[in-house]
Amino acid sequence: MQPEINPYSPGSGLTPPDLVGRQAEIDAFDLVVARSRGRRSSRGIILHGLRGVGKTVLLNRFLRQAEQADWFTVELEGSATESGHEIARHKLGRALLLAVRRLQRSKHFSEELKAVLGTVKSFSLSLGVASIDFNVDQTRGRADSGRIEVDFEEVIEDLVPALQKASSAFGLFIDEMQDIDPELMSALLAAQHKAGQKGWPFYIFGAGLPSLPSILSSSRSYAERLFNYREIGALDVSASRDALLIPAGRLGVEYEPEAISELLTASGGYPYFLQTYGQAAWDIAEAKIVRLHDAREAVVEGNAALDMGFFLRDGIERRQPNETTSGRWLLTKNAARVRLISLTGLECQRLRSAQPARACSKKEWCIRPNAAVSPSPCQEWPRSSIGSPQSSGALRKPSKVAPAGRNVPA
Ligand SMILES: Nc1ncnc2c1ncn2[C@@H]1O[C@H](COP(=O)(O)OP(=O)(O)O)[C@@H](O)[C@H]1O
Ligand SMILES: [Mg+2]
Repeated sequence: MQPEINPYSPGSGLTPPDLVGRQAEIDAFDLVVARSRGRRSSRGIILHGLRGVGKTVLLNRFLRQAEQADWFTVELEGSATESGHEIARHKLGRALLLAVRRLQRSKHFSEELKAVLGTVKSFSLSLGVASIDFNVDQTRGRADSGRIEVDFEEVIEDLVPALQKASSAFGLFIDEMQDIDPELMSALLAAQHKAGQKGWPFYIFGAGLPSLPSILSSSRSYAERLFNYREIGALDVSASRDALLIPAGRLGVEYEPEAISELLTASGGYPYFLQTYGQAAWDIAEAKIVRLHDAREAVVEGNAALDMGFFLRDGIERRQPNETTSGRWLLTKNAARVRLISLTGLECQRLRSAQPARACSKKEWCIRPNAAVSPSPCQEWPRSSIGSPQSSGALRKPSKVAPAGRNVPA
């Protein structure tokens, strides 16, 4: 069918045609908004789960709901690198200034709010952000100590009570929250803690990998009581069907029942896989009905795309050199290409155990669809056979091969 009207949207953070199966989380967010309107306290929400389950799109949905409720909103994204840590702080300063600009134009803007904007300016200047001006002098001696924990708390202390009086609230939306650096994380949690005690409507909404709850707890012991933690996982069968059928139905396209079963089984209900297979099935089907053979072909095609993404990106390219080699290799054959990919022993074990969700790297927490693993995923490859990538058609060649279990730079 025509690819230009293909409704599915596989990708990172791409809004799906229909955000299905997440009503409980959407309701939990609505409740925070409603309680805040009545000046009742609530906890922020932490979404945690494997990659591709839909945390980012849900967080974006929360953000839109907050904007509709006229909240003061700031978005942030964690990044694991040194420079990423610095960039996150810079972005925080910048996003605060941009939010202040929006606030100045909103119906909530009051004299009291005007009086506290100097603190936000001080804070942003102390983070090195000077490029956005909004005709307010910085408040000297407020939020400018250079210690993020002290300064951010002062921003909250000045800004949030004024927002509350103007019937608004402050929502900080943080994606990839596990990658926020420890100092900034601690500052954010301390500010959230203080706001809760004082009854100020400041809420953090975070999304991150399964490691996030324990990272938060080790940053501040009270973190486990600070948030409403929601594990985000695979969709149930009914929601998975909806994810495939509703977008197609709107465009007059149907699925054979066997075709739907095929895609549901292969996807295990994981949203990213549903979008990937749905997109492939649409492109493959010739008439306005997706048949079983189209679905089967879509799974093969979808898996090729998924494998390429997971194993090339997470398996090698994003791994540190000293994590790379263990002497075990995975050989997969996709789209007529043979690839040679290094795996740690742990990854091999995980791939061998036939579970619906497989972590393909301990650090990356990604998942693979049921059908994507070749019959014998991990093999001990004799060194001689690894030495000639041209003959195997390998995309990447290790420069050195270590005995099993020893790490060497790739
Ligand atoms: N509830 C949902 N219903 C349908 N598709 C979804 C849903 N949640 C996410 N998706 C799709 O799954 C993919 C991954 O979503 P994303 O939010 O990036 O996941 P994560 O942040 O957990 O890695 C995207 O293609 C998105 O459109
Ligand atoms: Mg995400």
